[in-house]
Amino acid sequence: MDLFDDRTKILAYFQNKGIMVTRDALNEILNKSMGELIPRMVTDEILDAGYLTEDDVLKLIRNPKRQKMDFEVNIPDIKAHSSVEDFREMFVDRYTRLEKIVAQSAEMRGTSSIKNAKKMQGKIKIVGMVSDISTTKNGHKRMLLEDLDDNINVFLLKSKGLNNELILEDEVLGVIGSISNSGKDTVMFADEIIRPDIPYKMIDEEISEPVYVASLSDIHIGSKTFRNDDFTRMISWIKASSEEAEKLKYLILSGDVVDGIGVYPGQENDLEIINPFEQYEKLAEYINEIPEDINIFLMPGNHDIVRLAEPQPVFSDKIRSFFNSNVTLLPNPYNLELEGKNVLVYHGMSLNDMIELVPGASYASVGSAIEELLKRRHLAPVYGGKTPIIPSNKDYHVIEKVPDIFITGHIHSFSQGNYHGVRYINASTWQSQTDYQKMMNFSPNPSIMTLFDLHSKTQILKKFKES
Ligand SMILES: [Fe+2]
Repeated sequence: MDLFDDRTKILAYFQNKGIMVTRDALNEILNKSMGELIPRMVTDEILDAGYLTEDDVLKLIRNPKRQKMDFEVNIPDIKAHSSVEDFREMFVDRYTRLEKIVAQSAEMRGTSSIKNAKKMQGKIKIVGMVSDISTTKNGHKRMLLEDLDDNINVFLLKSKGLNNELILEDEVLGVIGSISNSGKDTVMFADEIIRPDIPYKMIDEEISEPVYVASLSDIHIGSKTFRNDDFTRMISWIKASSEEAEKLKYLILSGDVVDGIGVYPGQENDLEIINPFEQYEKLAEYINEIPEDINIFLMPGNHDIVRLAEPQPVFSDKIRSFFNSNVTLLPNPYNLELEGKNVLVYHGMSLNDMIELVPGASYASVGSAIEELLKRRHLAPVYGGKTPIIPSNKDYHVIEKVPDIFITGHIHSFSQGNYHGVRYINASTWQSQTDYQKMMNFSPNPSIMTLFDLHSKTQILKKFKES
């Protein structure tokens, strides 16, 4: 305690402002060494009341920083109509930014362009984007790798155990290997594949007063299967301001906040609220009950009333007007900076594609698919597939900055993990099993709120499903 280092000084400070300090409050301040926080105890409320109690002090200990903040959000700059040139620019941007990350890794020091590599001998290193993959009749894998001005066929030989490597079309990777000019074409034989990947972060836990960011996804308000009782219980838990809930400073809703309309044929039969704007109004009824000093972020998903193709823009002004001023709209995907930590939020449509491509991944166990995204530093590495993407001169799906926390949803199961120090989750849902999920034999894992402590990055699961 440097600012106020003894009893008399503390009492004199408050007395000058006309505030009486109770004995218990004073003891609390001294015991917990709250010197730096004393100026923040002089709120308008305390000034009006004229005294400071132990409860007022404890409230500040529990909740040292919670306050409504203003966030500046960068909206993706996308033209209404895209051209062939936009596709080219998007892939060039993806290549350029990911190539830099790959080439900077220690293993890839001394990287050559494909054009130069073709004239070299011995061990060479190149970086490129995969444009074609096939399996030879002898069971080797072949990929065509392109950089900005040339391409080369790269073979991943069975004898080197590389034929089972998961290679995705359009991913950017590095190859260490050797050139062969023996046939009519110049080709390369790979010894090693180097991905942009997440560098290991060994020490990242900070000991500090916890500040929680909570993640909710796929609420699907408006659907007959929306779990109203669980959601209401969760809102009440936030409002009740327990010691744990008081540490909640940020709340992220990562898409499919309502069920929408026209998302699949016959959806109107599954809806309790047909008008999508009324669905958002209903959501606002719940969200506006949350204390205004909690900062809330709303992101769209594939069920929401915005353009389906990613990057998805923020909700309209009309939808915005339903919510209190502590709600900030986010595009999908988005990199949020909270307390100096990088929180990457993505609804998760590309996980449909990844589950099909990644061996071992499934709707019930999506963690390995999420890790493959991080490894490739891209949120939707395969162009086409089930993830509509609108091209522009920037690829908004490149994971340029290493996230501290990576939040996705969309799948309606729940998984959490730690990949090289990045804490990730596939958030739960607030919707019971739908007929479609029943047909697909998939059981969702609903009504879980995940709390991340932004300092220690530990995760706490709050389960609101009625037993
Ligand atoms: Fe979704």
